[in-house]
Amino acid sequence: MTNESQLNRAATLNPDGSVIKADEIRKIYGDIAAVDGISFTVEPGETYGLLGPNGAGKTTTMRMLSGLSPTNSGAITVSGIDVVKDNRAVREVMGVVTQHDGLDNGLTVFQNLFLHGFLAGLSRKDSKNRAHEVLEFFGLRDRSKSNVYELSGGMKRRLAIARSMMTSPKVIVMDEPSTGLDPQSRNRVWEELAVLKDAGVTVLLSTHYMEEATILCDRLSIMDHGKILDEGTPDQMIERHAPKEVTQLRVSPVSIRTVRAYLTEHNITFREVGALISVTGANGDRPDLSGLKDLEGVRTSYRAGNLEDVFLAITGRELRDG
Ligand SMILES: Nc1ncnc2c1ncn2[C@@H]1O[C@H](COP(=O)(O)OP(=O)(O)OP(=O)(O)O)[C@@H](O)[C@H]1O
Ligand SMILES: [Mg+2]
Repeated sequence: MTNESQLNRAATLNPDGSVIKADEIRKIYGDIAAVDGISFTVEPGETYGLLGPNGAGKTTTMRMLSGLSPTNSGAITVSGIDVVKDNRAVREVMGVVTQHDGLDNGLTVFQNLFLHGFLAGLSRKDSKNRAHEVLEFFGLRDRSKSNVYELSGGMKRRLAIARSMMTSPKVIVMDEPSTGLDPQSRNRVWEELAVLKDAGVTVLLSTHYMEEATILCDRLSIMDHGKILDEGTPDQMIERHAPKEVTQLRVSPVSIRTVRAYLTEHNITFREVGALISVTGANGDRPDLSGLKDLEGVRTSYRAGNLEDVFLAITGRELRDG
């Protein structure tokens, strides 16, 4: 895979023109509806994000879509394949990156790739060639003889993504591709995902990172308790649910009580996370904080509303690292 064009073959479409279609899918574990009748489509070449707090049902959804876990009810179509009826066929067209890498620690980087391709039906020769291409593309060539246990967490994650590319899938499902990575490795993963996107690959990913969703996703949905609470482009979601502007006060311990008292007294609603207090003015106006301006240890800044605010508004919870 020395250039993008080798990836560039469009996925087979569903009858309605989508690539992934989930229709009222449901998964019950005991008393819990882990996924409670959700519907969405992912269009050709789109990167679609599933956002939600821990336990929202993201992994369960992705496992059903990739044929790894049966549904209790509902219909799933991927590239024209009825996944509920034929969960094996979908694995031939779809690349999957699971939440836990599932790499074989006892094998080298190259062997992991080769074996995956071979088991997926490539000939020995094709799998070997493809493994070399994928290593080159993901900048892992100099680690090809390393054992997987010798790799850093970031390299393992990238190898897991690389492995999903062995069969040149046109559809990839990735469960938290960049969770646990340092910012540099995360950027690397984002660059790699951007190349896949440019090549027309259709991607469904889950993430806890607002920035990741903003950068990568054409559309996204926010899930909680097995349901989709809202769906749209990042801009639409921000427009719908986030304030235009958020005032942020970084407050040192000497002043924190005074600041809290001032905000309460002036009926200004605020949210406190660590040393940071976020304040949203009514009707998009900046709140009147003039009474705090001479206070020691208070730094004020302003930022635009973002997906983090959307998430909080919709789920009542902060986005957090999973
Ligand atoms: N194999 C299982 N058996 C029983 N309950 C399960 C199983 N897998 C998931 N669940 C439950 O289903 C719900 C959804 O879990 P899921 O793993 O899909 O969430 P998630 O959105 O991926 O969360 P996270 O962000 O932590 O990865 C949770 O309540 C979880 O405890
Ligand atoms: Mg999960």
